[in-house]
Amino acid sequence: MLATLAYFSFLAASVALARALPGLPDKIYGVNLGSWLVLEAWMLPAEWIAMGGQQCNDCSQCIATEFAFAQAYPDTVDEKFKTHWETWFAQSDVDDLVSAGINTVRIPLGYWIVEPLVNRTSEFYPRGGIVELQRGLKQLKKAGIAAILDHHALPGVASPGQMFAGRCTNDVEFYTPYNYHRALIWTAVMTALSHLDPDFGTVAAIEAMNEPIMDANQTPGLGGFQVNFVQTVRAVELALGIPVSGMSSPVSRRGASTAADAISQVAASTSMKFNEEVRQALVESIPILASVLQQLNVAGSTANLKSWPKRQSLVTTFMDINWQFNNPANPADAAIGPQGYDNHLYYSFGGVADANENAYLTSVCNLNRIQSDAALGNTPLWFGEWGLPTQFSASDEFLFKWADAQKFSYSKGAGWIFWNFKVEKSALAGDLARQWSYMEGLRLGFFTQDPSKLHDPNVCAPYISA
Ligand SMILES: *[C@@H]1O[C@H](CO)[C@@H](O)[C@H](O)[C@H]1NC(C)=O
Repeated sequence: MLATLAYFSFLAASVALARALPGLPDKIYGVNLGSWLVLEAWMLPAEWIAMGGQQCNDCSQCIATEFAFAQAYPDTVDEKFKTHWETWFAQSDVDDLVSAGINTVRIPLGYWIVEPLVNRTSEFYPRGGIVELQRGLKQLKKAGIAAILDHHALPGVASPGQMFAGRCTNDVEFYTPYNYHRALIWTAVMTALSHLDPDFGTVAAIEAMNEPIMDANQTPGLGGFQVNFVQTVRAVELALGIPVSGMSSPVSRRGASTAADAISQVAASTSMKFNEEVRQALVESIPILASVLQQLNVAGSTANLKSWPKRQSLVTTFMDINWQFNNPANPADAAIGPQGYDNHLYYSFGGVADANENAYLTSVCNLNRIQSDAALGNTPLWFGEWGLPTQFSASDEFLFKWADAQKFSYSKGAGWIFWNFKVEKSALAGDLARQWSYMEGLRLGFFTQDPSKLHDPNVCAPYISA
């Protein structure tokens, strides 16, 4: 009897873990397109210096981020970044992803890619990234690669002292009503683009935010933002005629003729469960969407509703609940329709395992994050950032195992997305690519040509505890 019960609960658990998400492969074998539309100077030090950037120990003290660069070079920043965007991720890179069997990319984005959201009196960022995003997505779509749009660098800065935040500062102001509101407008615009612009055709998911501060005491209001993020995505989808589970649209296909019309009808409807904050963000997103659609040469704001392509719901995506401590909100409570969860795991920054080969392999081979997240409803889970870096000097022999063992454990969930697809190879970058670049790891043989395979399927057998 007990055995039978255990068997059935095992079955239930495997079904839950295997739940398919629209637009995403059953098993994600992915890479991040890091340093493309959110540039992190440490990943391309020689190019950064050549552009006019600087290196320093405290990144707030020199030209080490997009913000500092745009502030220092207001007249040339757009042109300099255009060259970077065109060369860092080009058709040859898409071809490399295809030949490596990569089926998904996660694309880190800044809030500033939606240009009308930037307050140009106090905020400085390059312009024109959205056109490059459209170009890259078009190439990815042609290659059949799914894309996750990741709101990586948020308005007001969400993480202190980090290049990946777009601005390196300890003045962290994302967790405030004003900036949550701007993030919702960004979300409405990206959702609408994903459905209206055919070039965004393989965009399957939008990630609400990258890596909030881990201490939930320092992220007031984040739970409310999670609820509003999902409502914003679903409200735009209902407006555009995409079915949302358990909700019917107030927009009649005959009544609304344009996206702007349809979104404003949903924003005005008080009979739906969208709250005031979400409805206000929808209203403010309408002129911003119109200007972005114009910038992208998409007719969606004026096209007849009946001619819009019908698509399926986007997967709303959050960092998993266990990313934070001190009683964080549970993003699973915010879900309406398909939702996925992202965990990041870097051993090299410390705090995960002792700094030696045996401890690393023992740790990753016995990883319990997928189960502990699933117990809180955070499933399907993928590992949206990880790498080969180590706190010790790693031999080639170890890196074969280290790649295999991480893939082995992460594939027990929804899959993995390596950081990064590439990094610079230069004298200044030194050995960086060996452990941070998927393409270099593939060339060196640490990764298998078919990403679903391992060199040694039994790599974890000696390390798994009974
Ligand atoms: C833009 O920033 C300036 C300086 O911080 C501030 O005074 C102004 O109110 C901001 N404008 C808007 C529209 O928020």
